[in-house]
Amino acid sequence: MKVLGIETSCDECSVAVVEDGKHILSNVVATQIALHTPYQGVVPEIASRLHTEWISQVVQSALDQASMTVKDVDAVAVTNRPGLLGALLVGVNFAKGFAATLDVPFIGIDHIRAHLYASQIEQPLEYPYLGVLVSGGHTVICKVNSYDEIEVMGTTVDDAIGEAFDKVAKHHGFGYPGGVIIDRLAQQGDPLAFLFPGPSLQKGDHPYDISYSGLKTAVINQLDQFWNGTSPKTPENIAASFQRTAVGILMKRVRKALEDTGLTRLAAGGGVAANSLLRSELKKLEGIEVAFPSMKLCTDNGAMVAGLAYRYLADGISSPLDTTASARVTAFKKSYP
Ligand code: KG4
Ligand code: ZN
Repeated sequence: MKVLGIETSCDECSVAVVEDGKHILSNVVATQIALHTPYQGVVPEIASRLHTEWISQVVQSALDQASMTVKDVDAVAVTNRPGLLGALLVGVNFAKGFAATLDVPFIGIDHIRAHLYASQIEQPLEYPYLGVLVSGGHTVICKVNSYDEIEVMGTTVDDAIGEAFDKVAKHHGFGYPGGVIIDRLAQQGDPLAFLFPGPSLQKGDHPYDISYSGLKTAVINQLDQFWNGTSPKTPENIAASFQRTAVGILMKRVRKALEDTGLTRLAAGGGVAANSLLRSELKKLEGIEVAFPSMKLCTDNGAMVAGLAYRYLADGISSPLDTTASARVTAFKKSYP
């Protein structure tokens, strides 16, 4: 079964064709990054306008690269939640029109589940596993029982991890988007130049929750307070020290979640899963089988949407054509009632 997967939830206009949930025949990602760079952040109105302008061509490229015509598409999948509403609607409406015209099944896919599923396309793990979703919009530690059943154990109580990378980079003028630039700068930096604090949320009832606003404030407003007094205050040293702390905060909760659940498998996903320090720290976890998406499947892409959609479709699940887009999904915002 050849599934066309469409992703327009934020600033990547991406379309892929995945066969039987495992063979990626094409995965075209048309990034809008350059067009949002002057604003140092994603401008929702610009994002939806560009998706509208680009989507037909991106779909055509995905079909061309897969050596297919529209007639070879067996089902159409699209991210329909969560994300920027106007951006999501472009993909959702395109996908519904496409599926209706071709008379093939249509399915709306949850972006968070798709990120948590991405590694499974190339490196399938047995369920259950610990899911670590780290992106610009989300930070979630969860128990993944199946492609559809996820128990959220902890989330960020304020900024997402990728958002912290982006805001620190923006404030210090490192460039946009911040994650990949900080990762690169940090390779040349001293991670102990600044000894930034981590939050102490893991006590009490919320042992896996995460917070990044304190770290962000420290890196933006209180550099001198946490300086080790000797290393120069260079961008490389700021980046390396921030990255060490940001990854350390996450790893502490990940280790605790693994210990408490006894899970022996872990899958990471989301843009920050491309971070070199996080990847090396996760690989060091003893006795844990760790799956990462390849770099292109970490950030937003249509392949993860098509890959996950295949699982639902194979189980006979699709969506009605009155399905719409939702900006928010409450299940992933709150970890506790
Ligand atoms: O998954 P994604 O493409 O979009 C969301 O769903 O949010 O993630 C984008 C985020 C951005 O915050 C970006 O700075 C971050 O992923 N990112 C990274 C790296 N590559 C992308 N963060 C840290 N290190 C990286 N190498
Ligand atoms: Zn994403």
